[in-house]
Amino acid sequence: MMRVTSVLPGGQIPAEPVADGQIPDEHLPDEQALVGVANQLGAACVAGWSPAEEDLASRAAARAGRAAGRQPGQTHTLAAIRDRIRAGQDPLGQAFCALRGPAGRRVLGQTFTPPPIIESMIAWAAGTGIRPARIVDPGSGSARMLLAAGRRWPQALLVGVEIDPVAAIIGRASLAAAGFAARSAVLLADYRCAPLPTASGPTLFLGNPPYVRHHQIGAPGKDWLRRAARDQGVPASGLSGLHAHFFLATARHAAPGDLGVLITAAEWLDVNYGRLIRELLLGALGGQAVHLVEPAVPVFADAAATSVITCFRPGTAAEAIRMRRVASPERLGALAGGTPVPTAVLRTAPRWGPLLRADLPHVSSGLPDPGLPDPGRPDPGSAAAYPGRLPEGHVELGELCRVHRGQVTGANAVWVTAGPHPLIPDRFLVPAVTRARELIAAGPVLPPGAPLRQVISLPADLDGLPGRERAAVARFLRHATAAGAADSYVARHRTPWWRVRLGAPPPILASYMGRRAPVFVRNHAGASYLNIAHGLYPREPLAPGVLDALAAFLNRSVTPGQGRVYAGGLVKFEPREMERLPVPGPALLAAGADPPGADPGPRPGR
Ligand SMILES: C[S@@+](CC[C@H](N)C(=O)[O-])C[C@H]1O[C@@H](n2cnc3c(N)ncnc32)[C@H](O)[C@@H]1O
Repeated sequence: MMRVTSVLPGGQIPAEPVADGQIPDEHLPDEQALVGVANQLGAACVAGWSPAEEDLASRAAARAGRAAGRQPGQTHTLAAIRDRIRAGQDPLGQAFCALRGPAGRRVLGQTFTPPPIIESMIAWAAGTGIRPARIVDPGSGSARMLLAAGRRWPQALLVGVEIDPVAAIIGRASLAAAGFAARSAVLLADYRCAPLPTASGPTLFLGNPPYVRHHQIGAPGKDWLRRAARDQGVPASGLSGLHAHFFLATARHAAPGDLGVLITAAEWLDVNYGRLIRELLLGALGGQAVHLVEPAVPVFADAAATSVITCFRPGTAAEAIRMRRVASPERLGALAGGTPVPTAVLRTAPRWGPLLRADLPHVSSGLPDPGLPDPGRPDPGSAAAYPGRLPEGHVELGELCRVHRGQVTGANAVWVTAGPHPLIPDRFLVPAVTRARELIAAGPVLPPGAPLRQVISLPADLDGLPGRERAAVARFLRHATAAGAADSYVARHRTPWWRVRLGAPPPILASYMGRRAPVFVRNHAGASYLNIAHGLYPREPLAPGVLDALAAFLNRSVTPGQGRVYAGGLVKFEPREMERLPVPGPALLAAGADPPGADPGPRPGR
């Protein structure tokens, strides 16, 4: 094994490291001090020590040497830290989280897994009867998963793959402190192309892949996804989050006979890019079970996404995948139970979320329980596939209206203006709902002339503008560029970059995110809307009275439980989720509505 060098770049000899007995733990002043502690716990004894870690450790050792004897505040002995690690705690991981903070950790999706969840994941793997020769943690962080697995399988090799050298070092230190150094390795690498050696027996892939959204994934990562997905024969979308990349990489790293259990955000169950994961589970990964933790219950202290645990056995082809919703992490148990949903049904289901049934009577999505669907129905993910489950005369909202998300400007500070703009002609200023509170304050109707802000909606071709206007708009665009508006992700993906294309005013606007049920507002103001609202566009012309009755019904009936409830009580309705809301059909609405005078409502402008 490599050891930390004792000569600093530049040839100085570092002072002695901090003596045992002078090590602060969670109260460490910064990450360098944490690296110093990890170093002294024997991080470098774990195989895979890299030049990047060597560099970090050398600097930390030098700094710790200079500060020796001057460290204020609370201290712990190295022995005490080692004891805590051996007792199953993760003091280095905790210190890392405290030092880097939630915002600093978001970039790499560094949210470490609570121990009870890890125990449930390990219990499932143990329950298969397969004894893993090796555990691989894709994105190992502080190595708490590897440590728990190392205790359960004392003979298994423990392999962490981690891209962040600081996290890798503390993971190594924890493995070393637990006495696992001789059978551990941490590879400082991108899991997608990590050089995993072949194993002498089954590998258990045990992990919590980083939750990083596609905006943060660069072109090389997206190219990798496209190529790797093509090799596996599964569909790839550039909108895939990093957890989808990790599922795909696992399918590539795994061999028949292996096992896997991963905890991720649950959105892949329903969104388009999730098809990649769903098809892998129906194919190469051999999906066994999917357990969703009730959205309102926080699983991670500092991440507000609904969590799902997926169990799989590569190389197997089960006839059904067990699917279950649990009320809280404590009820996960050994990840047993769940309703077996035939793979024939899963193959044709456009979304899997609606197929996850509660394991407790009081846990409900708020929608009619679809029950176990029959194979062969056209859309088992839709309540429409279960006639008789909706109350008589009711339909899904999506049968009456398309629900569209509002436009994203990429830089509201530039594109939204409170009044007339000195450089932009009035005809390019579109009144729009730009804050959810404008809808909430409006009540049932947003009246004509409502005091709304305006969105600058310039045409693609500016050459046709009269000379003076063209000069003024050009000046505005220079200011906008200087303010960074041309460089936002959104601006870079629209042509031309200044064209904020707003949807046509919908007859009903809805809020969709907040700590309450959405509000549905009749849009008499003819306002457009940004992405803080959804627009409801009738598929066929609906009389104004029917639209009034529809909005009123939605305001009366929709509950937060029908959306995705995130930790902390934040409720969100994606457009497709809103389309699944049960509503009275046109006849029922009309029965309580004013006589006709059709209000077709325009189609969305996008
Ligand atoms: C959600 S944390 C999970 C850590 C640990 N497995 C646990 O469950 O506590 C994900 C980890 O993946 C690492 N990571 C992010 N992108 C990575 C990549 N492309 N390759 C390898 N590791 C990565 C992060 O630095 C982070 O430590």
